[in-house]
Amino acid sequence: MSTADAAGRSVWGSKLGFVLAASGSAIGLGNIVFFGANAYRFGGGAFYVPYFAALFLIGIPMMIVEMGLGQTQRKAFPSAMNRTSGKKGEFLAWWAQVNAIVIAMYYITILAWVGSMLVKSFGPLYADGANSVGPTFGGVLTSWMPVVFAFGIWALNAVFLSKGTKTIEGAVKIFVPLMWVFMALLVVRGLTLDNGLQGVWYLFTPNFDGITEAAVWQGAFSQMFFSLSLGLGTMTVYASYLPRKADVVTNGSMVGFMNCTFEFVAGLAIFSMLFAFTLYPGEGTGTLGMSLVVVPTGIANFPALQVMFAALFFFLMLIAGLTSSISIIEGPVASLKDKFGWSRAKAMALVIGLGAVGSVAFALPQVLELDGKPTQPLGLSLLELFDHWAFGYSLLIVGLVEAVLIGHVYGIEKLRAQLNANARFFKLGPWFDVLIKYVVPTLIGVVLLFNVLNELGVSIEALGIPGKGFYIGDNGEYFDGFEWGPSAVFGLWLGGTVVAAWLITRSGGYDHEEEGEA
Ligand code: PHE
Repeated sequence: MSTADAAGRSVWGSKLGFVLAASGSAIGLGNIVFFGANAYRFGGGAFYVPYFAALFLIGIPMMIVEMGLGQTQRKAFPSAMNRTSGKKGEFLAWWAQVNAIVIAMYYITILAWVGSMLVKSFGPLYADGANSVGPTFGGVLTSWMPVVFAFGIWALNAVFLSKGTKTIEGAVKIFVPLMWVFMALLVVRGLTLDNGLQGVWYLFTPNFDGITEAAVWQGAFSQMFFSLSLGLGTMTVYASYLPRKADVVTNGSMVGFMNCTFEFVAGLAIFSMLFAFTLYPGEGTGTLGMSLVVVPTGIANFPALQVMFAALFFFLMLIAGLTSSISIIEGPVASLKDKFGWSRAKAMALVIGLGAVGSVAFALPQVLELDGKPTQPLGLSLLELFDHWAFGYSLLIVGLVEAVLIGHVYGIEKLRAQLNANARFFKLGPWFDVLIKYVVPTLIGVVLLFNVLNELGVSIEALGIPGKGFYIGDNGEYFDGFEWGPSAVFGLWLGGTVVAAWLITRSGGYDHEEEGEA
């Protein structure tokens, strides 16, 4: 099986390889950790209206655009944007790559916590039944174990990325099917618990209460982008390794639906446990607390095989996260190779070196004292602040500008014609142009605008929308005015990512065309 095409660019060994890799990228912590927590926080059925709007009006269409760009240009995101919409597009895409490195840093820190909990599930996790779960996680957060795990997980990523599509395909062929099997075991166990089915109603009964809250919509939109691996150009890179005749209309839609199916199944597994054991995550339960404390607490109440199910759950998160982290890192690696003609080893050394240092910062176990009260670990606070910008804003900003550039500057009609030429099951109609040119930018624009106003504390009386002020974390911490910590992180994030993207965009490159894989 050849893993490079005539031009030397690496290609997927098979169509299945691509679908597994793309769905492995999409299915990850977003589906297990973030979906459950967001759906709970935003009221189950209330979440699902903006969620489905996001899936059909934005998610699947943008998936097709991002994959289509890669497949037609056969380049990573920045080069593909450069060819279709010039320097502006390239700058946007480099900004996305810098954000991808930031996200990879903390994504892997979370995986390091998951890995530590996996180890603990064979020991102290259930030493005192359900009571020892919270303290075990607290102990992990304030220990150096996650730092060790972070290095280990970066090293694993390096192994899976070392030979490009060949090694990525090797990993996803094992991990992706395994993920579905493990999730099936968990959901069957959850739904067969007494009262487990209650969770299904909570998740599936639509509820229109929260529908006027900007935060619910932003939550659903960011969740959709993150979950589908959009807004970082990840799917563009993966699709750039497809043969010229590949049908991304079908493949893109399929990956989108598989991802959302997995997400709902994961939601069912989690909600069935919550209802079976009447576990109501309290006000102070953060996103991570939901999957690293509340779910293991549920498992402690299982009639049998608690350790096995806990280990299975953590292992599932670990492999689901690994197949996603590989793709987040492959983005910047492939982008550097395509622009500067670097070898894979050189691009990997830079991205992985930077990333590993960042992951350690997010894993820092020191607990600070503010106003005489101990707060959470320093690393976790940093993580929440960076996540607020990178997850909450950058993906959506990239999606918005990308839709405008491809829609209006390059011309979505042109891309659609190219994609339809290979589309074997159904073709995209002119409605697709309307979605990309107008619907996607308007929806994202409105959500971002309302949310910025909300963060600035501006109330919109006519619509009954209160301005809540700047809000970070799930612990109900509000920052009044400008506190130096959050402001510094905002400055660092925005300034750092914009300057880095600008420097890379204006430096030379692209004169080494089609050198391909080493
Ligand atoms: N989609 C992945 C998840 O759900 C995360 C991811 C985001 C991967 C962006 C690649 C790009 O966990």
